[in-house]
Amino acid sequence: MRHLMNPLDFTVEELEKLFDLANDMEKNPDRYANVCHGKKLATCFYEPSTRTRLSFESAMLNLGGSVLGFSSADSSSAAKGESVSDTIRVISCYADICAMRHPKEGAPMVAAERSKIPVINAGDGGHQHPTQTLTDLLTIRSLKGKLGGFTIGLCGDLKFGRTVHSLIEALARYDDVNFIFISPEELKVPDYITQMLKNKNIGYEEVISLDEVIGRLDLLYMTRVQRERFFNEEDYIRLKDFYILTKEKMKAAREDMLVLHPLPRVNEISVEIDDDPRAAYFKQVQYGVYVRMALIYTLLGLEQGGDKAC
Ligand code: NCD
Repeated sequence: MRHLMNPLDFTVEELEKLFDLANDMEKNPDRYANVCHGKKLATCFYEPSTRTRLSFESAMLNLGGSVLGFSSADSSSAAKGESVSDTIRVISCYADICAMRHPKEGAPMVAAERSKIPVINAGDGGHQHPTQTLTDLLTIRSLKGKLGGFTIGLCGDLKFGRTVHSLIEALARYDDVNFIFISPEELKVPDYITQMLKNKNIGYEEVISLDEVIGRLDLLYMTRVQRERFFNEEDYIRLKDFYILTKEKMKAAREDMLVLHPLPRVNEISVEIDDDPRAAYFKQVQYGVYVRMALIYTLLGLEQGGDKAC
C-alpha cells in the first residue's frame, strides 16, 4: 500500500507515467468512467478548501466512485478531541482511500502510519501540498511540452506558501531549471529549501522587485500572502498588496510566459489579466482534476487490475 505525503514520494519516471495517464484520462473520459465503481474516497479536511476538496471529489465521481467526508474540524470528532490516528482507523473502515488536509505540519503522515487505506496529503500547514504540485507539473508539461529547461519566477509569500515549497523540491529534480524567488524580505523562501538547492548545485536568485526580472521568465508562479499563518494582523496588512500583477507589468513579460497560481487569488493578480492568453491559472484547475483522477487510480492499484485498498 502506498501513500502520497510529498511530491518526491514518486520518482521522476513514476510521475511521467502518472502524467501520461492523466492526459489519457483527459482525452478518453469514457474509458475511465466506471473504473472506481464501488470504491469510496473520504475527504477529511480540517482546514478550509474549495478547489482541493472539490477537485478530489470531482475526480472520484469522474471515475465512477463515491465520496464521503467532512470539510472542517468543527464538524468532525476532532472538535471532541479525537486524534488523527484514531480518526483514520475509523475512516479505514468506511472508505478505500483518503485525502487529508490539516493545519498541523506532519498530521497526514501520522495518519498514514496508522491507516489501512492509502492516505493523500492534501496540504499540511505551511509544509507541503503534493497534489497541487502534481497539478502544477502536469500543467507545465501539457502547455510547455516539457519539464525542465526553463526559468521560473516564484512570487509572493514564499515563506508560508506550501505550494511553493513542494513545487521547488519537485522541479529541482529536472534538468536546467533556474529559480528566481521574488518576495519581500520577511517572506523569503525557508533556509532548508535554499540549502537543498545549494547542495544540488542548482542556481537561484532572490530578488524583491518583480519588474526587474519579469522579462527573463518562462513561467511566473504567483501566490497569495497566507493571512492565516501570520502571527500578527499588522504584518499581514503591510505585506498583502506587495505584488499586484497588472496589464502594465505584463507588457515587459515574454509573449509565451505562462502565469500560474494555485488559487485562491486575493489581489495579487488583477482580474484584467484573466483574458490574457498567458494566464494559465484556470486551466491549472482543470488539470488538477485529471491528475487527481490518475493519482486515485494509481494508489488504488487499478492499473495492475489490482485491488490494493480493500
Ligand atoms: C493553496 C493551499 O491551500 O495551500 N490552495 C490550493 O490548494 N489550491 C494555496 C493557498 O491557499 O494560497
